[in-house]
Amino acid sequence: MVSESSSVLHSWCVQAEWNAPTIVGGEGARFWDEAGHTYLDMSSLAECMNLGHQHPRLIRAIQEQAQQLCFVNSSWGAAPRRALAEQLLEISGFEGGRVFFTLGGADANENAVKFARQASGRPQGKVVARDRSYHGASYATMAWSGDSRTRLPGDEAFSVLRVPPPYAYRCPHASASDAECATRNVAHIGAVIGQAGAENVAAVLMEPNAGTNGIVAPQPFWPALRAETHRCGVYLIADEVMSGFGRCGEWFAWQEHGEAGRPDLMTLAKGLTGAHIPLGAVILAKHVAAELEYSMLNTGLTYCGHPLACAAGVAAIAAYRDEGLIQRSRLLGGVMLQRLRAMQDRHAVIGDVRGANGLFAIVELVKNRATREPLSPWPSLHPSLARFVTLARERGVSFAVRGNLIILAPPLVIEENELQRALDIMNELLGELDFT
Ligand SMILES: Cc1ncc(COP(=O)(O)O)c(C=O)c1O
Repeated sequence: MVSESSSVLHSWCVQAEWNAPTIVGGEGARFWDEAGHTYLDMSSLAECMNLGHQHPRLIRAIQEQAQQLCFVNSSWGAAPRRALAEQLLEISGFEGGRVFFTLGGADANENAVKFARQASGRPQGKVVARDRSYHGASYATMAWSGDSRTRLPGDEAFSVLRVPPPYAYRCPHASASDAECATRNVAHIGAVIGQAGAENVAAVLMEPNAGTNGIVAPQPFWPALRAETHRCGVYLIADEVMSGFGRCGEWFAWQEHGEAGRPDLMTLAKGLTGAHIPLGAVILAKHVAAELEYSMLNTGLTYCGHPLACAAGVAAIAAYRDEGLIQRSRLLGGVMLQRLRAMQDRHAVIGDVRGANGLFAIVELVKNRATREPLSPWPSLHPSLARFVTLARERGVSFAVRGNLIILAPPLVIEENELQRALDIMNELLGELDFT
């Protein structure tokens, strides 16, 4: 038998170095490999299994839909597609808008920019995006991402205007407080739009909160950005691929700010089906959808709004609602943040702890707290952090790390005692390992 490592091309790694167990099952916040080792999942795999592993309600919905009808393309109506679109518009308060379904986050972002260009009448319009962001791995979304992994020659072809991130711990504008960092960042974005000429800008594309690049925007950032984009007359696209579906303690992270945070378009994936089946979506506000109503929509995907995926999406929304998972994320997110702050008091290697209002937090490791020198230059991984991941796995916990960051995003269904156990192991390892 050919081993998986020699037949599959794996993402984001050196192929010759790939060496991971084969996962064969899961339940709730745990999954297990073929050797029978069980892991507590502290990252929801790719920050996507918000509903945990093998959620029975989703499995049932997929099975039932498969028995009834597997596929209808988008030139015909499909009941689960319509049901999911209606429910997404309801939970986001985008009534009167429209939903375009995709297969994941990258194509949701690409299509959102297409719609923003068409609706604004700026077909060549530029996209304002920030450093230390991630919007996907297609060519265009790589260009719009400010991610060290995705810089390619020729990015300019995708009309990106890059701006610094609202990274309060290392504020690019040398601000004295989180609030000042947010204000200066937004003022800079306004200036960049002004310089390009708003009539040449199609949209600002940004994550409102949680993201793989470890930025948790200071509280005033998003509403200030919303106000500034309104002032400039430029659409705001919220990339909620990671931050949506309870990850930040709301259905969608912008909702923390109420109407003052409402974007013009929003992109979704990951938690939309809790990763039980691939699905992404673009939600267009009523005023954006109205601009597209009488012209040809020059885009499409064979699997747009695939019935199996949409049935899973409908079941996912019911599960978030009936199991109170958004509130649970807020509650357990508070518990997690408190424990991480206590670890910060204990371990000098922790420079910063930042968290959203839900089960998402970043622990940033430093060589020196006073100078804030990163444990390793971004995005390289310090050998002790790599060792942390290996030892944690041996003790039955799976953590996600990147550069000098530990990214904590467990499934929203995690039990409190499981969460506490995983954090105990993290605390032990931070004490045992030598980070010098
Ligand atoms: C914020 C954000 N946007 C977009 C994407 C891309 O989604 P996908 O991998 O489904 O294309 C990701 C994936 O991690 C993400 O975190």
